[in-house]
Parts: sequence; structure tokens; C-alpha cells
Amino acid sequence: MISPSLLAADWLRLGEEVASVQAAGADQLHLDVMDAHFVPNLTMGPQFVRAVAKIATVPLEVHLMMDNAEDYIERFVEAGASTLSFHVEAGRDPAGLAARIHGHGNRACITLNPDTPASAVEDYLGVVDQVLVMTVHPGFGGQKFIPEMLDKVRHIRRVGPPGVDIEVDGGINPRTARSAVKAGANILVAGTAIFEAVDRRRAIEALRDSMGTD
Ligand code: DX5
Ligand code: ZN
Repeated sequence: MISPSLLAADWLRLGEEVASVQAAGADQLHLDVMDAHFVPNLTMGPQFVRAVAKIATVPLEVHLMMDNAEDYIERFVEAGASTLSFHVEAGRDPAGLAARIHGHGNRACITLNPDTPASAVEDYLGVVDQVLVMTVHPGFGGQKFIPEMLDKVRHIRRVGPPGVDIEVDGGINPRTARSAVKAGANILVAGTAIFEAVDRRRAIEALRDSMGTD
């Protein structure tokens, strides 16, 4: 699955940007929520998600780069999010948070930063739908993919339940996507590689090609 990150979109033309990547073949949309504390940047909130949900024809995945994601779950659910992704570094009770997200009928994703070992999420692999392995330090788009993260993807694919989705986020382009998919990832987030492309349909196709048959 290909998940364009709206962080790289032109927000002055948000509606057109959403329509453009949907028409180009996006499977879902990735929305990066940053709280200026967990990460050194500040982005969007539930109101932004609600605006996108109004015109979205694909599921929305909300990546909560927040210290207190647990205080905002319901607001993002009401805004129209399908998947809620929280960071293991911030969470005090990841299993409880996943259960709460499931209680709303949503998908739960546990996320880990580059400096966090795979062992930090191992206990939760059976209670989430998805694991997001950050392949850059979160906070900004347009950074360089960290290849050492591939070992983590490989490990999680090996020890995780067969159905768990593994997503990579940061510095994804057709070349890095290929190595991530080979390691076991099946969801690719891409901001710059899609929104900065001259032809977004071709950019998404190139990413999809790197996944083989998916
Ligand atoms: C970074 C965000 C990413 C970002 C990816 O903190 O989580 O989703 O938008 O951007 P690119 O694809 O440009 O690295
Ligand atoms: Zn993200």
C-alpha cells in the first residue's frame, strides 16, 4: 500500500492536492500530527484531519508524534481517522491505548523511532494491527533514509504475527522502498517522493513497482 504524506503537499491548495494523489492511485493518506514537544515541529490537529476527511475517498492514517496522544484519540477518531498511530517512546500503556483505539472500531499502529530497538515493541505486536518503523528521525519531511532501520523491519517481520502490517516512513523513494519491502514492509509512506514529482501517478506507480505484486 502507498500512503502519501500530506506534510509535503501545498496546504494552500489542500483540496486539490488530496484529489490529485487520490486520482494518482494513493491507497490511503498519511497525516503527520506534531506537538512541538515530542518532536521539534508543529503541524496539524483534528480540524485539519476533519477537513481532509470531508473530501477523502481513501482511509486516513494519523501519525501522532505527540507526548500525550492518549488525550487526543477520540478527537482524531471523530475527525475521521481510520488508523491511529502512536509512538512507543511516548506511551505509558501501549496495550491499553491499542485496546481503546480498537474499542472505537479503528486500527491501531505502534510506532518506533530510529533510536528505539525492536525489543521495545515486541510485547505489543499481538495487540496492534500495524507497526510503523521510522526510517528518519521524526519531525520533518525530505530527510535521508536510514538504512540501518532495515534490520529492525526484518526482525519485526520475523517475530511478529503473520498478519501484522509493517509500515516505513521517511526518505522513501523507489530505491529505498525496494529494500524496505524486501525486509518485510508492506506499507510505504512517502511525502517528497510523491508531492515533488512532476507526474504523481508515475511516482506512485514507481513505488508500487518496488513492491512487486502488491
Ligand atoms: C516525518 C514524517 C513523515 C514525512 C515523510 O516526521 O513522519 O511522514 O512526511 O516525508 P518524506 O517522505 O519526504 O521523507
Ligand atoms: Zn509520518
